[in-house]
Amino acid sequence: MKEKHTPSVRISGGRFMVIGGASLVGSATVEELLRCGASEVRLFDNFSFGSSDAISHIISDPRVTVVSGDILRLPQLLAAAEGLDGIVHLAAFMTLSMDQDPWTGLNVNIQGVQNVVEACRACKIRKLIFASSNAVYGYGESVKGDLVETTPFHSVGAPPAAILYGASKIIGEQICRHAYQKHGQHYVVLRYSTVYGERQHYRAANALYIVETQDAVKKGYRPKVVGDGSETKHFVYVGDLARANRMALESDATDVVVNTSGPEPITTLELVRLVADLSGRPDMEPELVRPDPGKVRLTSGGAFRIDHAAAKNAIGWAPEVSMREGLKRFLAWRDRTEEKISQS
Ligand SMILES: NC(=O)c1ccc[n+]([C@@H]2O[C@H](COP(=O)([O-])OP(=O)(O)OC[C@H]3O[C@@H](n4cnc5c(N)ncnc54)[C@H](O)[C@@H]3O)[C@@H](O)[C@H]2O)c1
Repeated sequence: MKEKHTPSVRISGGRFMVIGGASLVGSATVEELLRCGASEVRLFDNFSFGSSDAISHIISDPRVTVVSGDILRLPQLLAAAEGLDGIVHLAAFMTLSMDQDPWTGLNVNIQGVQNVVEACRACKIRKLIFASSNAVYGYGESVKGDLVETTPFHSVGAPPAAILYGASKIIGEQICRHAYQKHGQHYVVLRYSTVYGERQHYRAANALYIVETQDAVKKGYRPKVVGDGSETKHFVYVGDLARANRMALESDATDVVVNTSGPEPITTLELVRLVADLSGRPDMEPELVRPDPGKVRLTSGGAFRIDHAAAKNAIGWAPEVSMREGLKRFLAWRDRTEEKISQS
């Protein structure tokens, strides 16, 4: 293995590309790189899920270029990756999208990562950050206790689309490792837990509870919780993740995989009560309903916590935004967005 340069990439004055940048994590990451003095940020996206609304707050910055392209088309990636210092790769199909179209989802999550790695090698990109997921630990009763980076994948009883998603992220991680071993391609894999925050979309099953609860209580309905609400969810605020992406680029770490989760897990019932409270309706007690067999809902029987201590050691990162504070910001953003739409 030949190592050509150090793994640390300076943000100030640097040139970067965020692949899958026109969405939740991507838009926040572009914002963070600009805030820290990047001289150029290319935002590469095929807009299959992303939208121009999600990037309207950053595209007026002269340092941002939007590249409309598909990671399944290698020539487009090669052209876009010319002259960069670092790449943050986010484009993917998550569980709900995988359920709709598994074949394209597997192509994007596997062949797509291979193409990104190939573009890194061809264009001598100093460092790649790859967004993986806590889906690599699987779902169901066996997922319990502290989930650390060595915890294995549990698939028994999980919905097929969740297994396809988790397994495809495991493969994506190994494609990065392979590129490091063969070509010395520096990389850091961040295993995000469930993301929430400004520019939230409707494709992440767990975050749907937040928007559905806010919508219900605003209309005067009791929010619904599937099952008994005792299962765990471990969220992370999107701004904390944007910081993790930036710190992973800057750090000396390479060839590492770390969890990036929020401060503490929460149960569904606690989450729904908290959202109702922050929406001004603490009196709206959640209604417990039976699961709809036709709908993919990610429930995990075991109480778990996604441990993020390794991220502190490897890249100096720890989450800063509490669930209460992050939810306040997120709900306020939804209110502002709705107000704008109703005025237009
Ligand atoms: N959102 C979450 O709760 C969550 C949790 C864990 C991990 N992750 C991972 O974090 C990353 C970012 O999450 P997000 O919620 O911002 O993602 P997202 O679903 O909004 O997708 C990111 C972007 O990728 C683009 N994209 C999809 N296919 C593409 C292709 N073939 N070529 C170019 N662009 C393409 C989409 O248009 C979208 O703008 C993903 O890799 C996801 O798997 C997300």
